[in-house]
Amino acid sequence: MTRVLTGGVAVVDMVFRMQEMPTRAEKYRAQDARIVGGGCAANAAVAIARLGGQATLAARLGDDAIADIIINDLRAENVNVDFVHRASGGKSSFSSIYIDAEGERQIMNFRGSGLIQDADWLDPDINSDAILADNRWPEMTIKLMAMARAQNIPGIVDAEEPINLESLEQATHIAFSRQGLCALTGEADLSMALKTARNKLLAWLCVTDGPAGVYFLEQDRVEHIPGFAVDVVDTLGAGDIWHGAFALRIAEGAGEPAAIEFANAAAAIKCTQYGGRAGCPHRDRTNNFLKENTTCN
Ligand SMILES: Nc1ncnc2c1ncn2[C@@H]1O[C@H](COP(=O)(O)OP(=O)(O)OP(=O)(O)O)[C@@H](O)[C@H]1O
Ligand SMILES: [Mg+2]
Repeated sequence: MTRVLTGGVAVVDMVFRMQEMPTRAEKYRAQDARIVGGGCAANAAVAIARLGGQATLAARLGDDAIADIIINDLRAENVNVDFVHRASGGKSSFSSIYIDAEGERQIMNFRGSGLIQDADWLDPDINSDAILADNRWPEMTIKLMAMARAQNIPGIVDAEEPINLESLEQATHIAFSRQGLCALTGEADLSMALKTARNKLLAWLCVTDGPAGVYFLEQDRVEHIPGFAVDVVDTLGAGDIWHGAFALRIAEGAGEPAAIEFANAAAAIKCTQYGGRAGCPHRDRTNNFLKENTTCN
């Protein structure tokens, strides 16, 4: 089984659906409430496990009940949580999300406190075929990309805003979000932005652009692989599922264009179901979708 180590953020969202967004300091009743696991690296790990890989997550939590919820959910998804650090006295990150009848969202986020800062505790010899890191915890991103270099395996960064260049230096692959790439380069045009980023970074570079799909650099040319047209219900976590799926195919030895196509499919299917990463498909469904949807929009 192909092994992918992912590192970065693991959180949980308490999602409430209601008719009208709360505006006053009083009691409101929700029509529906769910606890939805999230966080870039944790979502990517779930995607890797569902798509047939062996996923190991390196993350940081507190020693509270929120951490228990996050870890139990990841275990149920067959993610190895042996390298999730739990800080004594620390508080894990979580959010309350209100969604009204129009689909507007209000998010109250707590980023956690008392969590470990360094990544020195992580075993540098964890066996994997590729390593994926989000860039929300720079110490961990830097450590994981150095591990990938030392093991001579692909090191992939999901580069969201804000971007710390040092955490990208050792990566072999960088997949930016539109906001991340534009903020880093000061360019609004994605082709120009990719070419500008090339001046600062040696890795293979691409940018995901929501339903439009992905742009990537092939030598000095910018290539485009469109996204799949689907009936969109919920895009929460689409980028994270994309990064997990992409990393898995790269770990399996696929070329970048094939990995992009596969990741576009997995992320598009995710968007057709409500509930964040709960909509992430398994391998068979993704492969069937790819067979049935050879022409992109
Ligand atoms: N509405 C959509 N329809 C089809 N595919 C989508 C849609 N939104 C996202 N995708 C797929 O998911 C990929 C990643 O999405 P996106 O570029 O929005 O990630 P992101 O900016 O990192 O956002 P986030 O991490 O918040 O989900 C896209 O390249 C595309 O393949
Ligand atoms: Mg993202």
